Amino acid sequence: MASFDEILSKPSLFKNINILSPHYVPNILPFRDGQISEIMNLISPALKNQKPRNIFIYGKTGSGKTCTLKHIMHKFNVLNSKASMCYINCRIYNSRYRLMQKLLKQYDPSTDKSGFGLPFFYEKLIEFMNKGNHIIVVLDEIDMIKDLDELIYTLTRINDEVSLGSLTIIGISNRLSFKNELDPRSKSSLYENEIMFPPYSSLQLKHILEQRVSEGFSENAVESSAINLAAAITAQESGDARYALKLLSKAGELAEQSNKTFISDEDVELARKKVEIDLMQEALSGLPEHHQLVLYAIVRLSSSNAPRYSRLAEDNSFDGFFLSGEVYEQYSSLCTQLGKKSKTSRSFREYINDLEMLGFIVSKVSSKGMRGQATLIKLGHESQDLLKILEKIFS
Ligand SMILES: Nc1ncnc2c1ncn2[C@@H]1O[C@H](COP(=O)(O)OP(=O)(O)OP(=O)(O)O)[C@@H](O)[C@H]1O
Ligand SMILES: [Mg+2]
Repeated sequence: MASFDEILSKPSLFKNINILSPHYVPNILPFRDGQISEIMNLISPALKNQKPRNIFIYGKTGSGKTCTLKHIMHKFNVLNSKASMCYINCRIYNSRYRLMQKLLKQYDPSTDKSGFGLPFFYEKLIEFMNKGNHIIVVLDEIDMIKDLDELIYTLTRINDEVSLGSLTIIGISNRLSFKNELDPRSKSSLYENEIMFPPYSSLQLKHILEQRVSEGFSENAVESSAINLAAAITAQESGDARYALKLLSKAGELAEQSNKTFISDEDVELARKKVEIDLMQEALSGLPEHHQLVLYAIVRLSSSNAPRYSRLAEDNSFDGFFLSGEVYEQYSSLCTQLGKKSKTSRSFREYINDLEMLGFIVSKVSSKGMRGQATLIKLGHESQDLLKILEKIFS
């Protein structure tokens, strides 16, 4: 009969599983020294009673934006000063109202009641800053805010109305095209400084993994070739450190399930497929609705046998690609079917760019043919995996 004593005394491959969690902020962040010192320099005026300029941070998923900013914030907020940094995840606080409420709550917990209006939050923030306080607000995943232009306008206007303190915005996003969606005034406010986080190389990932392995796994629990393989697979796919970490912890789980005493290449290979589906699900559910719908349209085209223009090509030049026009058609009819209003073809092109940048699709421009040049679009993943996830989202 199983006993808890027996379960607990079984040696584990993991020493501290929390260290492998994507939310853990390591004390040392290799390869981000440049970005860390640049950001520290840019925000340091707040410690000298001056207003820092706003910063916009851009980089692909898993390039360390969130953990870098949290790392800086921990260092900044222990200084005894009237300046403070405040982190807000805009995926959760995704409107001007919710965000202002959250921001104020950090400084005045008595305002954490419902029923207050936006002007109240605005006045209270001004009151707080007029006491000489400098706030640096980190808006992570800033592109998730629905009324972002209004928010930026409100936050920047606060500075015109205070005589002592200041409010500085650090916006973070992994969507490149997001910049073009802002109105010019918000754009110039937000982009006073721009900092780029490049994806990690295979060697860099190896180093990052080694550091986490020594803290998170038991001694000798991971073969060094397994670390190399995880780094190589990740670098080839995306350079996303989150993926590399997931790959290793999933490999650890699988190895443990089959009572192995260490993690080898084989476990990393097995983990790969499972991690891909997990991550795809996370990434998909985090996309704005119309991005999901456009992707759904492409997935439906890819998994159906319905006749389509691109099939009419006599040569094989389409090779799984669809004409952008037929994708748009499919997207519009999908919207109708689901009782949603489809967006313009201009927005559609933005969504296509974003989806490509996030690795969901591949696009190219066709060679000159009878129809002139057209954009061609193809899925970057197995349509069956995507279909299952999207069907669930829209069911
Ligand atoms: N330089 C680094 N050293 C150690 N760990 C890192 C480093 N960069 C990223 N990581 C780890 O990789 C994971 C992903 O990093 P993070 O969440 O900061 O990415 P991100 O750029 O914010 O991605 P997204 O755009 O998807 O939000 C985290 O677990 C983080 O601890
Ligand atoms: Mg992040």
